[in-house]
Amino acid sequence: MIGFDVTLADLPLRADLVGKSPYGAPQLDVPVKINTNENPYPPSAALVADLAASVAAAATELNRYPDRDAVALREQLAGYLSASTGIDLSSANVWAANGSNEILLQLLQAFAGPGRSALGFEPSYSMHPIIASGTRTTWISCPRRADFTVDIDAAAALVRERAPDVLFITSPNNPTGGSLPLQDIRALVRAAPGIVVVDEAYAEFSDRPSAIGLIDQFPAKLVVVRTMSKAFAFAGGRLGYLAAAPAVIDALLLVRLPYHLSALTQAAASAALRHADDTLGSVAHLIAERRRVRQSLVDNGFDVIDSDANFLLFGRFDDQVAAWRQYLDAGVLVRDMGIPGYLRATIGTDTENDVLLEKSAQLFATAGRTQ
Ligand SMILES: Cc1ncc(COP(=O)(O)O)c(C=O)c1O
Repeated sequence: MIGFDVTLADLPLRADLVGKSPYGAPQLDVPVKINTNENPYPPSAALVADLAASVAAAATELNRYPDRDAVALREQLAGYLSASTGIDLSSANVWAANGSNEILLQLLQAFAGPGRSALGFEPSYSMHPIIASGTRTTWISCPRRADFTVDIDAAAALVRERAPDVLFITSPNNPTGGSLPLQDIRALVRAAPGIVVVDEAYAEFSDRPSAIGLIDQFPAKLVVVRTMSKAFAFAGGRLGYLAAAPAVIDALLLVRLPYHLSALTQAAASAALRHADDTLGSVAHLIAERRRVRQSLVDNGFDVIDSDANFLLFGRFDDQVAAWRQYLDAGVLVRDMGIPGYLRATIGTDTENDVLLEKSAQLFATAGRTQ
């Protein structure tokens, strides 16, 4: 055992990182884990068998570097997006990386950084400001209304005034769940002088049309980011992607690490995409469950924010930190996003949802909830 006498304080850390805490939801071993917006249903046996065979085939060539540009996988992703949005995309319109977080990092490396700024409508996905900070991009926070919607006119005015190099629009928004209609996204893109990143991590759970339909109108500005971590039930596989004009991908090639996407990841994601219809079959059921859970929480007196995603933000708790602990003590891991009075719960299996509802009713009857 070496090096344990050295602490963070002994290291020549960048001054702007001193005192910061690492990002990460607690990974606790409890019966009901509904804190990270995963699909609760594991991959099918057929997918696992196909994936295992594909990874085994890729393993025979692991002495070689993978396809640096992941062309075959990008072709499959373009096929999926074209089929689900009706917009004709090719592999030249799609880029892939290890989770959409890496896509977001590459976007900020290429289009933001020191002396540049990024703006987001908060509360929203907390990695946006964290990746901004890591790339030394100045973060500009535009608050949402009290009901967590975006005041589009005020937002567009702020975007015009502050002129961020990168504008983040998360739709459906995490952790609040609401999404924006295309005309609102269009108004924000018109106001933005720089790159607009529409983060559609939860798009498959929403009825709204994808912002991919706007790329043709704003090819030098608009980037739509997706992930296989949510609806595709592939969070452990780490595959995120984007749709944009080919020139955007040319820009990302300047900052990506060579061979960033391993041959194993490419083979596994490709297998997962071959079973997309099967996997995405769970989406309709999760949406139905979201409606059931929402109604039951409302019937129990909770304030539940409208959601187009696979989670619900609900409250109001006198003290959401204490309420989070009470859920945990009852074996239910939900997420405290630091929004006073509210907690976020992912839609799980029917049984997990029943447990959440049962514990919520008990909590309501005992303590911790206001109004
Ligand atoms: C809005 C949003 N974007 C991006 C991500 C990152 O997902 P991943 O890196 O797993 O693709 C998440 C994950 O929770 C998210 O909520």
